[in-house]
Amino acid sequence: MLKTVNPDPKSKDHDLVLLGATGVTGRRAYSYLIKNVPAGFRWAIAGRNREKLEALLASSPATQERPDLLIVDLSDPTSIEKMIKRTRVLIHLAGPYADHGAFIYELCIRHQTDYIDIGGETFFLKEMIRRFHQQADDRGVKLIPVAGYESTPFDLLTLAAVEKIQKEYSETCIEAKIVVSFIRTGPVVDNRISGGSLGTMRNILASDDTNTYNDPTCLLPPCSSSKRLRKRNKISYRAKFDADIGRMTAPLFPAPFLNVPVVLRSAHLLRQSGYAYDEDFRYKDSMTVEFFATGVEGEKRYAKKVARQYQVTSWAVAGPRPLRLQLKRRLDNMGVSPGDGPSDDALSCVDYKLELFAQTNSGRSVRASMYGDGHPGYLSTARLAVEAGLALALERDTLPGSAGILTPASGLGLEFLPRAKKAGLRIAFH
Ligand SMILES: NC(=O)c1ccc[n+]([C@@H]2O[C@H](COP(=O)([O-])OP(=O)(O)OC[C@H]3O[C@@H](n4cnc5c(N)ncnc54)[C@H](OP(=O)(O)O)[C@@H]3O)[C@@H](O)[C@H]2O)c1
Repeated sequence: MLKTVNPDPKSKDHDLVLLGATGVTGRRAYSYLIKNVPAGFRWAIAGRNREKLEALLASSPATQERPDLLIVDLSDPTSIEKMIKRTRVLIHLAGPYADHGAFIYELCIRHQTDYIDIGGETFFLKEMIRRFHQQADDRGVKLIPVAGYESTPFDLLTLAAVEKIQKEYSETCIEAKIVVSFIRTGPVVDNRISGGSLGTMRNILASDDTNTYNDPTCLLPPCSSSKRLRKRNKISYRAKFDADIGRMTAPLFPAPFLNVPVVLRSAHLLRQSGYAYDEDFRYKDSMTVEFFATGVEGEKRYAKKVARQYQVTSWAVAGPRPLRLQLKRRLDNMGVSPGDGPSDDALSCVDYKLELFAQTNSGRSVRASMYGDGHPGYLSTARLAVEAGLALALERDTLPGSAGILTPASGLGLEFLPRAKKAGLRIAFH
């Protein structure tokens, strides 16, 4: 099929719109964006509450050029369509995403608006891929969900290792393992989860697609190798001693089921463009727990506790509907609303470090690391999503040519590394 040509940028009023700017992640994204937009950039913040949006604008120094303000509500598709029609790149931070269904994907494809989000509802993403990947590809639109801390650093570091293996050894990458550690940079004053993140958990419990959370291939098209890939990439909910790191590790907080399908989708999409992800490529990740516990025994106990919690959770999300809804009601009753979450002060307590151990098809080892500045969930995520949006708005021609429902690695490629560095990610090979 003949691909549609992208519209002239001048035919749209806004280069970029930040939707959900008043949320926990959105507020940080706004304050990062306003300091990093180039002169003359045409952008807007969008949300449903004018007072909150105006307060946000008022919070930035008067010397800074203000963006436009758009009042839209996700429960009013007409207002959303009007916005999307006029926008080149939408950064959608008003999750959880399954709440409002598929229409944003549909509208972005119809109006050729590139799209970034930071979602984690794989059951929803799986459905969006099934319904819209081909259409988006045909219309040349890039939709890049899961572009926050989950899963950009993990996906990009793996791609960097794959490229190194290909360039230096002319081999394929058969396995990548990433262990993440959280590094204390200040006192932990408030470790609350945000209303949006809790909403994502509620959606996961309410979804009847109960296989998704234990299926590492859920974001791949069905194919003859699915069974083998599923077996090789089984998502681990165990605590174990990692000999490469020399520490106890636990399932990755907060969503051990998320990076695996995203990185496998990158492998699937990028292999088609000649990247050396092996046909039998395996990806896994975990975290150390010294941020949360002290001493060898303390870490061991804590890692086992986390693993038990995830084992129960994975069993519950795959369980019968009445049980899932009962658990969901507990979350509903926690009294956490959209916009609730940790304060700015609370976000300066932590950085993170990813350590990657990769294997080539002949058994050579490659090691790399990536250091991430700032709270992974609400600070690093905000900066990464913004830089991804800016890359699409300002450097689209230099990014990989692929379109469709992509991943951070397949949509942004290693060309994104300079922007990832600005967002606080530093990569090194050892
Ligand atoms: N991938 C990652 O690493 C990562 C990290 C952090 C968060 N997340 C995900 O990101 C999403 C957002 O999280 P968050 O903590 O920033 O959430 P949040 O603080 O609850 O913010 C939600 C935002 O959505 C807006 N909103 C809600 N309903 C709306 C509607 N009907 N119309 C227009 N706007 C609406 C809210 O506006 P009001 O201010 O008017 O209520 C608010 O701006 C969640 O899905 C979460 O799971 C992912």
